[in-house]
Amino acid sequence: NKKAIGESHSKLILVGEHAVVYGKPAIAMPFPLKVRATVKESKGPIKFKSSLYRGYIYEMPNEMRGIEECIKETLNYLNKPIRDLHITIDSLIPIGRGLGSSAAISITIVRSLFSFYRQKLSKDILFSLVTVAETYAHGNPSGLDMIASSSEYPIWFKKGKESMTIKIREPFHIVVADTGRTGNTRRAVTNVKKRYDLEKSNIQKSLAKIERIADESKYALVNGDNNLLGKLMNLNQQELINLGVSDDNLNKLINVAINAGALGAKLTGGGLGGCIIALGRDLEHSKVVADELVKSGVEKSWYFSTENERLY
Ligand code: MEV
Repeated sequence: NKKAIGESHSKLILVGEHAVVYGKPAIAMPFPLKVRATVKESKGPIKFKSSLYRGYIYEMPNEMRGIEECIKETLNYLNKPIRDLHITIDSLIPIGRGLGSSAAISITIVRSLFSFYRQKLSKDILFSLVTVAETYAHGNPSGLDMIASSSEYPIWFKKGKESMTIKIREPFHIVVADTGRTGNTRRAVTNVKKRYDLEKSNIQKSLAKIERIADESKYALVNGDNNLLGKLMNLNQQELINLGVSDDNLNKLINVAINAGALGAKLTGGGLGGCIIALGRDLEHSKVVADELVKSGVEKSWYFSTENERLY
């Protein structure tokens, strides 16, 4: 029996989420929570299995419409019938927490289908097929999630432009804490747009500040200045509050991380739930911050070192 596998991973946005939708730069990096799609032969309509849904693709719940369309578009592109397949998703990425699960899942699906039919997949085709799914999920995706989830390195990203790899000078340690609350990227992006329309000059100021923060963060990474990076994360969080995508619980957890000595902390991804990130001083200190966050009620925390690429 024929079988093929496609893999991908989650992502973290270090700085610049939301502003990136308005053409400002953002910095994101891979985060090694893995996802895998397995495609097998099977007779009849396409069957799909994931932690969220098990059944035929045409009966998928509305929130998964993007995945259904992505599967169809990919098979159309490959000139293959939309049937006789069984697609299974195994993912360690919590869903709807700003870690890019939707983009990562779509990437694995496209990769696995191309591999199943032994076709070569270029980045451009991958991105255009994943954009179909992301447009259903987000409404107006910048493309940052899918680029970061298919990259092995931290990237500098601007909508519609070729992304650039950032060469980091000094390793850093990043703590990720999952509130356990599902964020809603589509709603958050829509809220920012509403604010933008209502208070244009205020929001434009925030977007301009975030642009400077992203520029300076790139400088901090390239020069190994983690203290500066932490300060910039804090400044970014202030602007995210102004954009209306943070909330009391996220702000509280960010304060917990700062009080535990983190160099900086902010929400990551769409906000209004989801995850926060904090910059630890070193590996040992990152564990302290991660533990403090768990004591404060987060569902799960990890810390990641760019030195050994390990997730703890
Ligand atoms: C979501 O992970 C990132 C946002 O900037 C939306 C996007 O870039 O499409 C909030």
